[in-house]
Amino acid sequence: MADGIEVVPISLPPSADIAKFADFGREIRGVHPGAISPEQFEELERLLYKHSLLLFRNVDVSPEQQYALAQKFDPTSESFGHGNRKLENDKKSILYPTLKGIPRVPQVYLVGNGTAYDHEGLREVMLKHPSHTSWHKTSISQEDQEKGATRFVRWHMDAALYDLLPPKVTTLYGINVPQGPRQTIRYDDGTGDELEVPLAATAFISGKTTFDILPPELKSLAVRSRVKNAPHPYTWISTAKAKSTGMGIETEGLEMPYDQLPPWEESKVQILPMAWKNPVTGHLHIQVHGWTAAEILVDPLPETAERQGALYPDGAHITNLQEVRDILHKIQRPAIAPPLVYPHDWRANDLIVFHNRGVMHSVTGNLKPEQVRTYHQCNLAASDRPVGPDVEDIAKWV
Ligand SMILES: [Fe+2]
Repeated sequence: MADGIEVVPISLPPSADIAKFADFGREIRGVHPGAISPEQFEELERLLYKHSLLLFRNVDVSPEQQYALAQKFDPTSESFGHGNRKLENDKKSILYPTLKGIPRVPQVYLVGNGTAYDHEGLREVMLKHPSHTSWHKTSISQEDQEKGATRFVRWHMDAALYDLLPPKVTTLYGINVPQGPRQTIRYDDGTGDELEVPLAATAFISGKTTFDILPPELKSLAVRSRVKNAPHPYTWISTAKAKSTGMGIETEGLEMPYDQLPPWEESKVQILPMAWKNPVTGHLHIQVHGWTAAEILVDPLPETAERQGALYPDGAHITNLQEVRDILHKIQRPAIAPPLVYPHDWRANDLIVFHNRGVMHSVTGNLKPEQVRTYHQCNLAASDRPVGPDVEDIAKWV
């Protein structure tokens, strides 16, 4: 191991299926994230793509150091994943209320809850922990919320999915971590699924596991599919409502019509593979937002492939939103089953670096205004596009 880096498995909750998490998540000791040598970085980069999530505990990290760390993974990138200071100008976007830029490092955003005073050049900032109540079609009753019932707010990767390319990594640094009783995530989708989590845990799932547990016909579909995202997708769905699991959106015709969106160009609309190839392991990770996807383009089966039982064997261009979302839900819902979720139990001064092109994550929990939470988030719009399955992958999985 390079220069004293110590690699320790992360502790998993009792709810987790340990076998499914064998390769997921490592705590890194023996190196400060702000003082990494080139050799150490080479090692950390390999570890990140292999294990999806790296945790540094009890570290002091300045916004400058956090930006510098994120940039090591993509050295020519300089812009925050949603563009520097772009979110502050798009009041209709669902992200507008949740992120505040740090003035001297615009690639680093303050997220959290309650009021922060004299924070890195921000005199007084009101932060609001994202809540399912403003985003899901249905809400948990106030009474049940008081008793600790909560939901996944929104399963996502950090990506604009219009114009700017999905960041390779996200760094998330917990400064003030509110303490309180554990809460119970309710899925409320008729399955009875529930998951107990620490207060305001960030929940992660592996895009690799999402792919690995699919039945053969959905693996075949996934490796042949590309997803076309709507223009300005976060504004497009600002008028629609999400499913109670936070995975996907209800189809009720509530999306903002394209001609009412801010001006957009077809050339900036993103069509991305449904399965993204890990640059180190070669594994495929399902990485898609069921709520920003507008269309699916399916390639036909190769001529030599078995057609029996195949979905869309002749290929398809699926533009019916309900059908698009039903397919994505079928592919992604199994992956958020309670044993497949890693809810991170934050401590103050935890820094998490995660493979944003290999995992999905969600905020959880209900916080009161006095439960102050301050976190710094940094990810950078990537310099290259995610790579989809290659010819061998397609031959293997169709
Ligand atoms: Fe995020």
